[in-house]
Amino acid sequence: MTRTALTVHQIARPAGFPAPGDFRFAESAVPDPAPGTALVENLYWSVDPYHREMMDGDFALHTPLEGRTLGRIVASRTAALPEGEIVFHRHGWRTHSVVRPEETRRLPHHEGVPLSAYLSLLGGTGLTAYVGLTRIARLREGEDLFVSAAAGGVGTATARFARLLGAGRLIGSAGSAAKAAHLTRHVGYDEAFDYHRGPVSRLLADAAPDGVDVFVDNVGGEHLGAGIGALRPRGRVVRVGTVGQYNTPDAPPVVFDHADVVEKSLRIEGFLVRDYQELQEELYEFAVPPLISGALALDETVVDGFERIVEAFLLMLRGGNTGKILVRATG
Ligand SMILES: NC(=O)c1ccc[n+]([C@@H]2O[C@H](COP(=O)([O-])OP(=O)(O)OC[C@H]3O[C@@H](n4cnc5c(N)ncnc54)[C@H](OP(=O)(O)O)[C@@H]3O)[C@@H](O)[C@H]2O)c1
Repeated sequence: MTRTALTVHQIARPAGFPAPGDFRFAESAVPDPAPGTALVENLYWSVDPYHREMMDGDFALHTPLEGRTLGRIVASRTAALPEGEIVFHRHGWRTHSVVRPEETRRLPHHEGVPLSAYLSLLGGTGLTAYVGLTRIARLREGEDLFVSAAAGGVGTATARFARLLGAGRLIGSAGSAAKAAHLTRHVGYDEAFDYHRGPVSRLLADAAPDGVDVFVDNVGGEHLGAGIGALRPRGRVVRVGTVGQYNTPDAPPVVFDHADVVEKSLRIEGFLVRDYQELQEELYEFAVPPLISGALALDETVVDGFERIVEAFLLMLRGGNTGKILVRATG
């Protein structure tokens, strides 16, 4: 095991898009675990849009950042965390973490499931998609969906799970023609469009002339207004996130027909996945068998090397990923 640890600190509050200079890599000796804790050598890191939201004030400056991570216990001073075990924890953005048992979750051993899946389709990203479809939209067989940020982690997981749940037509929006083509060729979307090509309401009307039953919204802004407009009677908006506004806080307000919400009996509901952790086992039961059989595929962009974690985060904010973006330890 290497004796030098690296942690990432935020050192400035960005105005708009963050830049590499807003972060600093700090070097230190690998920490020794105190009694009751264990040392984890991290293997995979998740970089997420919510990190951008936290950069505006929630993350303290000049302290290690946090994030969802998988790692192997390499030294332990608690019987609850045996050496060699792989655990999930939130002390990410660092090569080594000292954790207490209650801060970790041991991973199940599903033969044939790659480790990365526990941070993507079987992790918070997949759980978000699963909760959105089964608990918020309460999707019924044959219903048609529109998904914004469709080529990202939550967007691809939503489409793959919706198919397993018997959805009808799937329509997605993404940030380039290449991504839109990827969605219809490889992810199971029936129609996809590049939202830069024109007003989202027009692009959506072309892709779904008869409307949709459910809108899974990862973006907000213009997408939200367009999605509400396209809903059929008793349609549902699943508000997952607002990634279109994290770097542009002065974005114009969402415009939609408020009367539509009444006249079409629409439901608009947001949620936070952290309030649905009890569904983790249900997600495994739902997704692990088709993952093992090959009926369900992983959509991931993997960036190799902890030293590229900031680069990976910035890449994701600019739409450089398809599927869930992860950073993998090398060497
Ligand atoms: N409610 C919850 O508990 C919860 C949990 C997890 C995630 N989320 C939310 O879910 C959404 C997706 O998260 P994720 O982790 O799956 O990230 P992701 O979709 O894999 O990555 C973010 C994507 O956002 C798109 N994007 C960036 N700027 C945009 C803009 N101005 N307009 C439209 N799209 C833009 C980019 O794709 P394009 O190339 O297509 O622009 C980028 O790939 C985010 O809003 C996140 O905050 C919520």
